Amino acid sequence: APQELRYDGQTVVVTGAGGGLGREYAVFYGSRGANVVVNDLGGSFKGEGKGSQAADAVVNEIRSRGGKAVANYDSVENGEAIIKTAIDNFGRIDVLINNAGILRDVSFKNMKHQDWDLILAVHVRGAYKCARAAWPYFRKQKYGRLISTASAAGLFGSFGQCNYSAAKLALVGFTETLAKEGLKYNILCNVVAPIAASRMTQTVMPPDVLEKLKPEWVMPLVAVLTHSSSTETGSIYEVGGGHIAKLRWERSKGALLKPDDSLTPGAIINKWKDINSFSEPEHPQGPANAMELLETATQLPPNPPGEKLDFKGKVVLV
Ligand code: NAI
Repeated sequence: APQELRYDGQTVVVTGAGGGLGREYAVFYGSRGANVVVNDLGGSFKGEGKGSQAADAVVNEIRSRGGKAVANYDSVENGEAIIKTAIDNFGRIDVLINNAGILRDVSFKNMKHQDWDLILAVHVRGAYKCARAAWPYFRKQKYGRLISTASAAGLFGSFGQCNYSAAKLALVGFTETLAKEGLKYNILCNVVAPIAASRMTQTVMPPDVLEKLKPEWVMPLVAVLTHSSSTETGSIYEVGGGHIAKLRWERSKGALLKPDDSLTPGAIINKWKDINSFSEPEHPQGPANAMELLETATQLPPNPPGEKLDFKGKVVLV
């Protein structure tokens, strides 16, 4: 018989697991042998209020199917308490799914500091606090799987979501660094940018579209990335509606200019095409090797002057 991915004996913490994608993850892990901590603050999608009902319902669902789960009602901003629930009940933590989130959509012009702060607090500080509390356990046991939840809004920008976009892209940088720091301890850290029907998206997408974006079609990728057999780390995936794709950075070959007095704004404009051309791209895992490039650049003849260049219809001086 074909084998299914199992998580027996492992403890999985899913934040924001009282509904939407988080619930889907939690129920899955519960059905595959894991001990599940179902965290949910139980407030509104805008981050107002709290309650135990959302988490309890998912715990009951997992238990009724013969799985093991406990609830935790803390905000992710109190990550220690969530990880403590895992340790107190199951003695370990193996997988952390940072999934909890809220929205405070408003155009930048009308954004209140509170809308900014709350979004950053829940998504970024919350993910940080949970990961920070889980990290010593991951390191000690030389095993950990961490998922961060980004968003297309963070990767590409999205009208009315500058707070959310900032928070979601922050999680990418955060996770890339944890992937590097965790590598030698077998702590694998990846990012998913999901798209799925939930209470968060039901206000912004029509029902016929939402029907094609079930949360159960996001869960399998998370399952694969958090399994003990995975070796993937530091990766970013868009996932939803049956489409799964990896994203990466692309760097243009760029231009090399002699670093001396001739490196003027005009000299840059002379090279504008090369700087912006992706015809010979690379896909970097880190910053350009500035020292090596500098060596080559120093050998170049002085940059031709870009005096009084016509750039987008304007006269530009060097
Ligand atoms: P959802 O609103 O159904 O689920 C989020 C859950 O997090 C809720 O149950 C909520 O009570 C909980 N939560 C909120 N603040 C919390 C806090 N401070 N502490 C603990 N729990 C808290 O929304 P959905 O769609 O399932 O979202 C899950 C994640 O996926 C979020 O991070 C969201 O930003 C992200 N996402 C979702 C997309 C989608 O298409 N549904 C698109 C891109 C990203």
